[in-house]
Amino acid sequence: MGAGVLSTYRDLLPLTSATPMITMGEGDTPLVKSNRLGRELGCPELYFKLEGCNPTGSFKDRGMVVAIAKALEEGSRAIMCASTGNTSASAAAFGAHCDIPTFVLIPKGEVAMGKLAQAMIYGAKVIMVNANFDVALGLVREFTERNDVTLVNSVNPNRIEGQKTAAFEVVDALGDAPDLLFIPVGNAGNITAYWKGFREYQDLGRSQTLPRMMGFQAEGAAPIVRGEIVANPQTIASAIRIGNPASWSGAIEARDGSGGVIDSVSDDEILEAYRLLANKEGIFCEPASAASFAGLVKMHRQGLDLHDKRIVCICTGNGLKDPDLAVSSAGGQAIEIAPTIEAVEAATLGNGELGEPRRSRNSE
Ligand code: F0G
Repeated sequence: MGAGVLSTYRDLLPLTSATPMITMGEGDTPLVKSNRLGRELGCPELYFKLEGCNPTGSFKDRGMVVAIAKALEEGSRAIMCASTGNTSASAAAFGAHCDIPTFVLIPKGEVAMGKLAQAMIYGAKVIMVNANFDVALGLVREFTERNDVTLVNSVNPNRIEGQKTAAFEVVDALGDAPDLLFIPVGNAGNITAYWKGFREYQDLGRSQTLPRMMGFQAEGAAPIVRGEIVANPQTIASAIRIGNPASWSGAIEARDGSGGVIDSVSDDEILEAYRLLANKEGIFCEPASAASFAGLVKMHRQGLDLHDKRIVCICTGNGLKDPDLAVSSAGGQAIEIAPTIEAVEAATLGNGELGEPRRSRNSE
């Protein structure tokens, strides 16, 4: 493990002897067992898959490494994507690593600063369009049809191939598929990829079961839930601010083939989950990522019994990509004091914040 997606899953990816075996250390991300939230939800077997631990801080690196390797194999001269931020960060990083020119189209004013910073410092040509993601993706599709440039959005099947390896890892870690897999849905490539991965592993006899796929869109950007394109998608979770998902049919297949659901969560529910993951598990993911756990909380409130279910929530991206949002949603927790020991003591011990003395956690 730790060798990257291409060599770890060589036999299960569309590689040839001519495919360059590039890696930036993507994949092999932690599957962390919940310490507090699972107990609160009556779910003793709750896990979080930390895709923010990938080299550019999101799951996109798994798919990008395959897409770029195949582009290089085919002698491509440049790569291009439209993005709400993470795809562009990943494309730009692999573009830099492999010395291939990278063009990224992003919706102006709608991409978290950390992601924009990544694309820029990695040296991609960053092009802002005065339109939303769906329009940008349309332009990129048209451009790459007209020009000899490789499209590296998830409409490129090599992206899906790479991303399915996260499902392999979940099964490898648990010994079988979970009962339920909660995942955010934006352009719907990732839910499509996970479902493909779970089915392939089952076909190979590496798992006995398949999970129910529980996909969650943001309420103001929920075309699959509503059954129609959303012309002007709106949500605080900018990564999934998408009104016309490219892999729409893949998401429907995952839902129907697994007996799962595609539902939506409000921005308030997303932000609540974002804060809970951070301050009750120590998991700082981005708001779009928190849609998976927000979906679990929603289903719990609706009465879904979780006590005997093994559940995995996918945390798709790292919270550090959007620190401003974290500061504004954490709510006034930093205080200012004079530089004296008395002031430090007043700010800490003065409010009874330490609580009662407690027994060692290990003796519980
Ligand atoms: N979570 C994060 C952090 C994302 O960046 C995205 C998609 C998703 C979830 C949804 O995944 O699109 O496969 O359904 N981000 C894309 C981008 C659209 O351009 O970075 P999906």
